Amino acid sequence: MAGAADPWADWLLRGRGGGSAEYESRIEARVGQYVERVLDALEPAPPGQLLDFGCGSGALGLRALRRWPGVCVVFADASEELLRIAGERARAQGTQARCRLLALAAREPQAGALHELADASLDAVATRSALAYVADKPAMLAEFRRVLRPGGLLSLGEPVFRDDALAACAQRRALEQVPRPEGAAGGQPQLLSLLQRWQSRQFPDTEQELARSPYCNFSERELFAWTLQAGFARVHVELHMDAGPSLAPDWDSFTRHSPHPYAKTLREVLDRDFTPEERALLEGVLRENWERGSMVSVERMAYVRALRP
Ligand SMILES: C[S@@+](CC[C@H](N)C(=O)[O-])C[C@H]1O[C@@H](n2cnc3c(N)ncnc32)[C@H](O)[C@@H]1O
Repeated sequence: MAGAADPWADWLLRGRGGGSAEYESRIEARVGQYVERVLDALEPAPPGQLLDFGCGSGALGLRALRRWPGVCVVFADASEELLRIAGERARAQGTQARCRLLALAAREPQAGALHELADASLDAVATRSALAYVADKPAMLAEFRRVLRPGGLLSLGEPVFRDDALAACAQRRALEQVPRPEGAAGGQPQLLSLLQRWQSRQFPDTEQELARSPYCNFSERELFAWTLQAGFARVHVELHMDAGPSLAPDWDSFTRHSPHPYAKTLREVLDRDFTPEERALLEGVLRENWERGSMVSVERMAYVRALRP
């Protein structure tokens, strides 16, 4: 994914489902559940003007248009390809008259800034899995507050990856302390080190990298504090943690999936970063676990609801 012109379009349209239509439709169904929770927080008074920040291909805004016949949605994203698709989908469901598409700057320091939206012009700001990738979250929350009218609502649903990164850091530190006997091959330390190398291609594995990574260096607690500091009231945060089987329908799509656009897939790591012996060892063990159904996937989502006083 590194170096792609539009990594978000690449990942959302092609990477996250590992090339499998079945996997993609399972992911879409799961995203639909997250999005409904974000929209539930805007009830009981449906918004008139809603911003879907980081709309991607439109999962949240399109549902809002179907759910509330009076709502108008501003779809805003840094990816022009995804914005175009969100617009096409709005047209396909007959709701284009209630939509506006807003292209945002893709690069720092302006990334995500909402200059084209007037102060106090919106009733609600909702976003799912987009603020997580913005480097300056306090500034973005201040923008959300600026564009909301007094009494307007903010509702966020964001993935929390910090625990994955902390686990990668801990594994790396632990392995650095294991003495490596000369010429040793195979065995537990080698397997652990291969697992750790795979993890390090998906999440930061040093404290310094973690601190610099926008999508790993926060949790629900920072979201709570930043939302309050941005001047919101009645801030409510919930963390949902779910452990269960992977959504991947088969081993092949599991290996071709990546959890976010900055992560390499297991297949890329096996084929490009490992020797044939290393690949055989790690793939053999992981595949055996997969076939026994003992692979567990953990998801952490933080939901924030707040009022613009
Ligand atoms: C994980 S996708 C989520 C898309 C959509 N909200 C959904 O729930 O399917 C993250 C989206 O945020 C957008 N994004 C990331 N950083 C952004 C920024 N700084 N400003 C605007 N959009 C951004 C990406 O282009 C991408 O469409």
